Amino acid sequence: MSDDPDTIAASFDQRAATYHGNDWHRRSAERLVELGDIRAGMRVLDAGAGTGFAALPAARKGASVVAVDVSRGMLAQARESAGAAGIDAIEFIEADATHLPQLDAGSFDRVICATAIHYMPVARTLREWRRLLRPDGRLGFSTMHADSPKAAGLFRRCAARFGVALTDASAVLGTPEACRAELAAAGFRAIDVIEEPIAFAPIDLSVAWESNVRAPANAAVLALDEAALVQLRAQYLRELTAAVATDRDALVHVDMLYALASAVTDRG
Ligand SMILES: C[S@@+](CC[C@H](N)C(=O)[O-])C[C@H]1O[C@@H](n2cnc3c(N)ncnc32)[C@H](O)[C@@H]1O
Repeated sequence: MSDDPDTIAASFDQRAATYHGNDWHRRSAERLVELGDIRAGMRVLDAGAGTGFAALPAARKGASVVAVDVSRGMLAQARESAGAAGIDAIEFIEADATHLPQLDAGSFDRVICATAIHYMPVARTLREWRRLLRPDGRLGFSTMHADSPKAAGLFRRCAARFGVALTDASAVLGTPEACRAELAAAGFRAIDVIEEPIAFAPIDLSVAWESNVRAPANAAVLALDEAALVQLRAQYLRELTAAVATDRDALVHVDMLYALASAVTDRG
């Protein structure tokens, strides 16, 4: 998968209007905020903030939030939601969250990243976030277990029948061990990785096609001609419906990983 910020921005700009339909993303972002021990008065960086599913609850806790995303479309939705909720403690920055020289070292109490780190080059991104944290600051990111959700694996298998080989973007950080190893290598300590499934709501399945076809990791399917895409869509939705009917438990949740760690730097 390309981790080129422009490619990712273009992909999420396309998806921005329907992203709010991903109810599991909203609930898992709220869970990350809860686990991240965010309190009033803290300065929080939300990296890959998207439509604000983590930034808004963090601001509601009284934190001052810097929400960074490469996608103008996603940020526009986040601004709209914050405005509608009367929240003004969020600063929105359209930028690459893996490299933020415009933000001072040691200036954040918390860095959070809800289901976005799998789009980023992990090692250097974690080092950059550690740079931004105060010595007693903490990082929390969420990601998906490798091969989860199963609905995404089904999409990849359907695409393969049309000659499109797709990879699982969750695989790189897809186990607790991988999360721990990357965090330790970047200098984080007191690492905790919580494995917790999150259930799909009916609306999540209804946007499954849109979520998969617009995912940056699946961009290669967009090279198919219109007729093939129509067939792929029909096959995917038919097989998803059948799979939900026969193996509902496997299909209707995402195996989440919530990784929490302390920056413990010796900077004064
Ligand atoms: C799946 S969405 C998650 C959004 C939000 N955190 C949530 O929990 O709903 C991933 C987001 O990460 C953003 N993103 C991916 N790579 C990025 C990067 N290098 N810098 C900033 N944002 C990035 C995308 O534009 C997208 O909005």
